[in-house]
Amino acid sequence: MGVFRIGFFNIFIYLCCAFLYSVPNVCGHNNMCFDCIDLEGCKAPKHFLKYMSAVDRDKVVLRLPTDKPDPMMDRCLNTGYTIKATLNGTVCSGSSDGLCHAIGEATTNFTITYSHCGDCYIACDCYSQENGNARKEGPIILTMCLAAFYTLIQ
Ligand SMILES: *[C@@H]1O[C@H](CO)[C@@H](O)[C@H](O)[C@H]1NC(C)=O
Ligand SMILES: *[C@@H]1O[C@H](CO)[C@@H](O)[C@H](O)[C@H]1NC(C)=O
Repeated sequence: MGVFRIGFFNIFIYLCCAFLYSVPNVCGHNNMCFDCIDLEGCKAPKHFLKYMSAVDRDKVVLRLPTDKPDPMMDRCLNTGYTIKATLNGTVCSGSSDGLCHAIGEATTNFTITYSHCGDCYIACDCYSQENGNARKEGPIILTMCLAAFYTLIQ
């Protein structure tokens, strides 16, 4: 493989995986609940809440009866809570599904998405939870990307 091939290959993997990593779930106040492959199967108590940036402190609040339910965001937050303002940094939260979720300002920038996911990977201590199950999706998706790539260049 020449340099061009490798460059193209990297761009392809980037696009392929950027898409899979960050299917956007845009939420109220321009926040977004990120679908992080790194966090799949990573557990957190449903009350877990960690602000990675001090300026976001207290933006997660109990929902008032007058607030509209937001199914996209409810997936990532403990039952009955909502976010009252656009976040500056990452919020890592538990939810009724017992898993760790990453929330941040809505973005399509893969670098930023990846950093939100990575912050919560650390905050929820996913590394020490990791066992055979937690990371099986990554290699499967990489294999699919490779298969698609080799099909395309035939
Ligand atoms: C946080 O973000 C808001 C909106 O994006 C901005 O107005 C504010 O200045 C930011 N605050 C800090 C401390 O960065
Ligand atoms: C994505 O965000 C990173 C880090 O903030 C920045 O350096 C980069 O220029 C951004 N990329 C795009 C395409 O906006």
